[in-house]
Amino acid sequence: MMRVVVLVATALFWLGVASFAWHGWHDSVTPPADAGSPASAAPAASAPAVDDRSTRRITPTELARHAHSHDCWLAIDGAVYDVSTYGPLHPAEPEVLSVWCGREASAAYRTKGYAGSGRPHSARADAMLPRYRVGTLAPAN
Ligand code: HEM
Repeated sequence: MMRVVVLVATALFWLGVASFAWHGWHDSVTPPADAGSPASAAPAASAPAVDDRSTRRITPTELARHAHSHDCWLAIDGAVYDVSTYGPLHPAEPEVLSVWCGREASAAYRTKGYAGSGRPHSARADAMLPRYRVGTLAPAN
């Protein structure tokens, strides 16, 4: 009886090893079903043609609705950024950033809030901006 159990277990083990080896090899030489078809390279029909995080037009009125530290949008050089999640990480007193929520803040960004005597943000700070972008500031009516 014991011999049969050992034999069956051994057979199952080698079956498993063989199946594993076959799939590994087979998958590596078989292209995905849709590879090479032109449709697979094109974006889905419902996807927006252009990144709407940069094209979405935001009026000064809409911008002004996000004037809280927990819901903070600000405009810099024509682009609107939602920095609600960045606020708590910003390396300055919270009010330095929060007073600009809901407002046009290009000069503040360029001077770090010290109009007339401020220094610009670093290239590292500039490079962070795109990840918070939500749209483009539309002219006031
Ligand atoms: C527009 C309103 C803003 C004001 C008034 C402001 C002001 C300041 C101040 C006072 C400091 C600390 C002093 C210093 O490091 O020299 C600072 C540092 C910094 N801020 Fe802002 N900030 C603003 C918006 C932003 C935004 C939107 C970002 C990025 C998404 C940002 C990223 C940084 C970074 C990375 C630093 C560290 C120093 C540097 O890299 O320049 N700030 N900011």
